[in-house]
Amino acid sequence: MNEYANTSSPVTGVRKAVVPVAGLGTRFLPATKAIPKELLPVVDRPAIQYVVEEAARAGLDDLLLITGRGKDAIEDHFDAAPYLEERLAADGKDALLAEVQHATEVAEVHAVRQGNPKGLGHAVLRAREHVGDEPFAVLLGDDLIDADEPLLERMLEVQRTRSATVVALLEVPEDRAHLYGVAAVEPTEEADVVTITGLVEKPPAGTAPSNLAVIGRYVLRPEIFDVLEQTEPGRGGEIQLTDALQTLASDASIAGPVLGVVYTGRRFDTGDKLEYLKTVVTLASERDDLGPAFNAWLAERAQQ
Ligand code: UTP
Repeated sequence: MNEYANTSSPVTGVRKAVVPVAGLGTRFLPATKAIPKELLPVVDRPAIQYVVEEAARAGLDDLLLITGRGKDAIEDHFDAAPYLEERLAADGKDALLAEVQHATEVAEVHAVRQGNPKGLGHAVLRAREHVGDEPFAVLLGDDLIDADEPLLERMLEVQRTRSATVVALLEVPEDRAHLYGVAAVEPTEEADVVTITGLVEKPPAGTAPSNLAVIGRYVLRPEIFDVLEQTEPGRGGEIQLTDALQTLASDASIAGPVLGVVYTGRRFDTGDKLEYLKTVVTLASERDDLGPAFNAWLAERAQQ
């Protein structure tokens, strides 16, 4: 093998991850007027860095950001910063230097602009040229998955063994189902895997087909691109990835089955103000360096 040989993940052959970050982040205004929500700090690193590290841990080191106007700082975060690095080195701030360089080294980051953000399905379609004719992962840039309870590895394994389209699902309380895409499912012989027979984006209260909500991790087959090309704008006038997945789920002759991996670990939605606050507090309280002092303060505050 030469140095340019295919570096496919040994687990699956999936190498590429697509991370859409072109959304407007309206739930987090006014913070997101000038700062992408994916760069909001979760303790001391931007949310998007956790996502990129998750992809890299799963063996996906070719990453395509789907970006948009006002999102250039995300690319800058993963680019080298020679002046800053020289300064940190000269000042002997080696630990900080390593942190800064780590963001550059963790993956090979590419970017393409979405132009008009016409929905998640439209964003994924922009990855077509980069991805080509191979399966690929999609990770939403504001959705964090607990590093101690890996999800993507399991999804890649299911994709490889079943040649399926694989979607991450999470049990949600009935009164929150209207905030998500929700799946109608049938069991398979594997306890954590279900066959998805239908999907509905943000079902009106009381109409959800189950309590299993789609969360921001997908392993898709390249056939999705043709389906997305033909998907009409749906809810909110946007081209919905959920609608394209519904097309696949309703006709297995297009690209095989659509399977769901039911995740039981912790997932953090940093695009929502309350969930963001919970995420920062949870992850800070678990940090070796900050946790002890932070937890002591939290306990004190809870007494007030
Ligand atoms: P969201 O609906 O959570 O993102 O889309 P949003 O539109 O930025 O947020 P709100 O609802 O206005 O607060 C899920 C993911 O899809 C991306 C977003 O960046 C986010 O990571 N997305 C969404 C795009 O890349 N392009 C789009 O046109 C829409």
